[in-house]
Amino acid sequence: MTKILELEKITKRYVMGEVPVDALRGISFGVEQGELVSILGPSGSGKSTLLNMIGALDRPTDGTLIIKGQNVSKFNDNELAETRKNVGFVFQFFNLIPRLNAVANVELPLTIAGVHGKERRALAEDALRMVGLGERMTHKSAELSGGERQRVAMARALVTKPSFLLMDEPTGNLDSKTAQDMMDLVVNLNEEQKMTVLIVTHDAEVAGRTRRTLRMRDGLIEEDVTN
Ligand SMILES: Nc1ncnc2c1ncn2[C@@H]1O[C@H](COP(=O)(O)OP(=O)(O)O)[C@@H](O)[C@H]1O
Ligand SMILES: [Mg+2]
Repeated sequence: MTKILELEKITKRYVMGEVPVDALRGISFGVEQGELVSILGPSGSGKSTLLNMIGALDRPTDGTLIIKGQNVSKFNDNELAETRKNVGFVFQFFNLIPRLNAVANVELPLTIAGVHGKERRALAEDALRMVGLGERMTHKSAELSGGERQRVAMARALVTKPSFLLMDEPTGNLDSKTAQDMMDLVVNLNEEQKMTVLIVTHDAEVAGRTRRTLRMRDGLIEEDVTN
């Protein structure tokens, strides 16, 4: 088994004004390649903070974070940017560009990575087909439903072929049927493509679809359950 992630005693203190907030108070766990893991906790428990660390968007205050064997805890901004190439991040509010169509949104990270022309188009179309959006490629994201936008965001995260996928509240803005379809897609991606996926959520139903669940409260992991 290959460990993709290793966290040891990760803490995060936000200092804004007089009273510091200890958003993470010592988080330790590991994730093996090919796992599908949910992190379940109420609002304010530190889920997004934790995901931002794992996604190399921010640095922990203390503790050790190892991504694919590299200790990134003390990386500078340039090194973190390099690490981010391993990560597919699906943001809670999708962060798509409304005026661009689906395929152009998915092409963006490829453009940044220096992939152009027909190759870029083909990769973006493959990613959209993978999430079941083959028929909606030229729709502007503003013309798509919430569930479809979520899939575009997934395609955009997957198009660079990351080592793992991080999803922040993937069903938070979807109705329950669309949320179920989304989870079907995630489970399928994990089983068929062997994609490693970490989902943070406050929704027990979402957590019920993953074999392993870490229960989070007040910046700590309370329980690590494999069913
Ligand atoms: N950028 C920030 N600056 C200051 N405090 C923050 C910041 N981001 C989050 N927090 C605080 O950290 C705690 C955890 O927040 P967050 O990670 O967003 O939790 P969750 O995603 O589980 O709702 C909360 O008390 C929140 O107010
Ligand atoms: Mg959050």
